[in-house]
Amino acid sequence: MNPLQFPMVLPTLRQHGGPAPQTNVLPGVYVHVPFCRTKCTYCAFVSGDFDEGLAARYLPALDAEIREAGCAFGRPHIDSVFFGGGTPSLLPANELVRILEAVRDSFDVSDDAEITVEMNPGTLTREKLDAYRAAGVNRASVGVQSFDDTELASIGRVHDAKDARAAIGLLREAGFDNVSLDLIAGLPLQRIETWRANLAAALELSPDHLSLYLLELHPGTRLSRDVEAGRVAHPDDDLAAAMYEEMIETLAGAGFVHYEISNFAKASPDGLDRRSRHNEKYWLDADYFGFGVSAHGYVDGRRRSNVRSIAGYADAIEATGSATAEEFTLDARDRASEAAFLGLRRTAGIDLAGFESRYGINLLQAFADGLDPLLEAGLLDTSDGWLRLSRKGLLLSNEVFQAFV
Ligand SMILES: C[S@@+](CC[C@H](N)C(=O)[O-])C[C@H]1O[C@@H](n2cnc3c(N)ncnc32)[C@H](O)[C@@H]1O
Ligand code: SF4
Repeated sequence: MNPLQFPMVLPTLRQHGGPAPQTNVLPGVYVHVPFCRTKCTYCAFVSGDFDEGLAARYLPALDAEIREAGCAFGRPHIDSVFFGGGTPSLLPANELVRILEAVRDSFDVSDDAEITVEMNPGTLTREKLDAYRAAGVNRASVGVQSFDDTELASIGRVHDAKDARAAIGLLREAGFDNVSLDLIAGLPLQRIETWRANLAAALELSPDHLSLYLLELHPGTRLSRDVEAGRVAHPDDDLAAAMYEEMIETLAGAGFVHYEISNFAKASPDGLDRRSRHNEKYWLDADYFGFGVSAHGYVDGRRRSNVRSIAGYADAIEATGSATAEEFTLDARDRASEAAFLGLRRTAGIDLAGFESRYGINLLQAFADGLDPLLEAGLLDTSDGWLRLSRKGLLLSNEVFQAFV
């Protein structure tokens, strides 16, 4: 996923000029594929039902946008590619492979690059997975959401738990050794017992990585309308907190490293765990290019986002070669505040001395008004020269991030 596509994630974005601090992490490329079988009730990502006519305009536009950027930036060296959506695995395999070829033609993709495709259960075949592997896709991020068929039906998923298990089986047979599963806690009808069962079912499949999200209600979604109208109960905060605690304990016991608020990677004896290289770029304030409708990019201190209508994206690329809706450079303070709240998403936290040398700002002093009360309330810890969310702060992270607004 391209997390910045959630509209409220970056409350501080403003238009400014300013410096672009250096980073030694290579950039990544995000590609948005905005087609799904049907819309899930909770989902606010830009996606619509698969439409052959629209896809026939969208895919060439995507190809053109990728090639244009590769040319403009001088074929940059990258080490991650992430196909998110929507449901990229809904595309015919040759179409996805063709987009990956456009990325390889336009960017210098490292031999060991992490290349991820978001995949939905019920959209995979062995032939498709073989074609992905042959093209270099080496990481699968599977949207399971729940292993309980009643919960799945309640959020409009078009697959059941059996399909999810079959998808993981197919991935393993096809040779994928880096498989991540997404689950959502706090779904309508979910109880602590069913959440526990969900975690156990996920672990039974021996995933290499887990993304475990707490349900968010986004305005404009069917779920949010149902909750407002009283047709579905509002997610219970105490229950969500209990589910979050349960997952941290369970996954620590199962040998996973909790490295970001919602993300867990299987530890390995050589110390190289399976954390997502691409998603870490967002939290480490590294550069990334974003292509496709609603995609965000961040290169040389400039933030850019594309229009949010699929047809509008194709129209704009066809007419002008660009679908940029907004583009601006962050000033030094905004850059530091964003780096701080994105960096705090990592459980390792922020190295305060490293932060000061990179951004020229003493974080604890510059944001003292917001941070001091959070330190006093025990939502943040400073020890060994690092600033990090406490266990309590992990659960209340959205409140903590307000300190940087
Ligand atoms: C970009 S989505 C697409 C993944 C894929 N299309 C799927 O649904 O299987 C990535 C993940 O975000 C999570 N997600 C999406 N909307 C959410 C919401 N409102 N609250 C919590 N998690 C959400 C889901 O776990 C989903 O798998
Ligand atoms: S399949 Fe994924 S992207 Fe599509 S509507 Fe459902 S959650 Fe959103």
